[in-house]
Amino acid sequence: MQKKNVRTGIVGSGFSAGFHFEALRKVYGVDVEVVGTHTIDVEGGTAYAEKRGIRFFDTLDALIDEVDVIHCCTPPYAHEPVSVAALKRDKFVVCEKPLTGYFGDGSDDFHWDHFDKQIALDGALASVGRILEAEAASSGRLLYAENWVYAPAIQKEREILEKTGGQILWIHGEEAHSGSHSVDYAYAARCGGGVLIGKGCHPLTASLYLKRVEGRARDGNAIRPRTVSARTHAITRLESFRDEGHIRNTYYDIDDFSAMHVEFEDGTIADVFASDIVLGGIHNWLEVCANNHRAVCNINPNTAMQTYNPVEKNFDDIYVIEKIGTKQGWACTTPDEDWTTGYPQEMESFYDTIANGRQPEGDSLLAADSISTIYSAYVSSQREGAAVEIKTF
Ligand SMILES: NC(=O)c1ccc[n+]([C@@H]2O[C@H](COP(=O)([O-])OP(=O)(O)OC[C@H]3O[C@@H](n4cnc5c(N)ncnc54)[C@H](O)[C@@H]3O)[C@@H](O)[C@H]2O)c1
Repeated sequence: MQKKNVRTGIVGSGFSAGFHFEALRKVYGVDVEVVGTHTIDVEGGTAYAEKRGIRFFDTLDALIDEVDVIHCCTPPYAHEPVSVAALKRDKFVVCEKPLTGYFGDGSDDFHWDHFDKQIALDGALASVGRILEAEAASSGRLLYAENWVYAPAIQKEREILEKTGGQILWIHGEEAHSGSHSVDYAYAARCGGGVLIGKGCHPLTASLYLKRVEGRARDGNAIRPRTVSARTHAITRLESFRDEGHIRNTYYDIDDFSAMHVEFEDGTIADVFASDIVLGGIHNWLEVCANNHRAVCNINPNTAMQTYNPVEKNFDDIYVIEKIGTKQGWACTTPDEDWTTGYPQEMESFYDTIANGRQPEGDSLLAADSISTIYSAYVSSQREGAAVEIKTF
């Protein structure tokens, strides 16, 4: 059978635009033609395009004109305008995490520590509403690029739940490392919050997804989150923090530690941690405690490969694992980090949806529930951990 041809445009030319392009090159079920890119950074966008032999577009509209799909690889504040523009033109959107959020009140003295999080929740939910409205009126769809959903360990757990009818009693998980290097990341107004949204969205969305899978397998109805209790902290902004040079400590107003406790509508629970204060490389894991099995999903690190390197400089030219501080000694060197992370798998699945109508696992409603839970968690944190009801979509 002849493969369908799909024309694609990438908005953004930074880190995520890089791994989206690489993952698109691996799609095998559909003939993907990456036409070009658009960013507000003309120099960076032109360099990105030249390196990959694609076109640079001066405007978003000009790019949308020439493609079937737009990949939104911009910082979160631009996810809504870019996605809505593409959906309004009946195009598909592959949107990076988080779907959207609240990006400040525009005042010079905006500071996340003191800002009323109920206003942030209301603003984020209004943004979610506008995206869902645009999708409902479009012949395109929004595909949510939460790679944890597509990570092979999480998809294996989906299979176990579907085939055994297991009931998840408790999920616990974490995403952590020693701090993002992005300049924007220091400011809540640019990222929609701190580590709770930036990293917490990954294990949280995987947890929401697996409870959805459980309910879907049982009677066709997703099991939704009901309440969340959360605490956030800014450990590296504490006066008592003692900087030894290993952990980034230059944040302006963001949380760098968060704990969310989610109660689902069936009374079962999930505990999700996210932080920027953990040494030793990326720490991405999710453990599922079910009534008939237990699964530990080691997304990264895992022991697919382990290396021992007696001399640091021997590995100067070797990529070992994300955010590892040293390459000397033992390491869980990853033979294919993109694969364990789920990047190629999510693209394969999205393009199957785009070309053949397959129901996506990572859709806009999962993304919407994730944003709603995250901002309800920020409200809870401001109330020092009180349980807050979650609006679901
Ligand atoms: N799934 C993952 O593992 C993962 C990893 C990193 C980042 N992300 C997500 O990807 C998104 C982008 O992050 P990044 O690390 O690539 O950031 P980045 O700063 O490396 O790149 C952002 C790009 O967007 C462009 N841009 C900014 N505003 C724009 C606008 N209004 N219109 C068009 N282009 C605009 C910038 O010029 C830049 O090219 C974020 O939502 C982030 O959360 C996901």
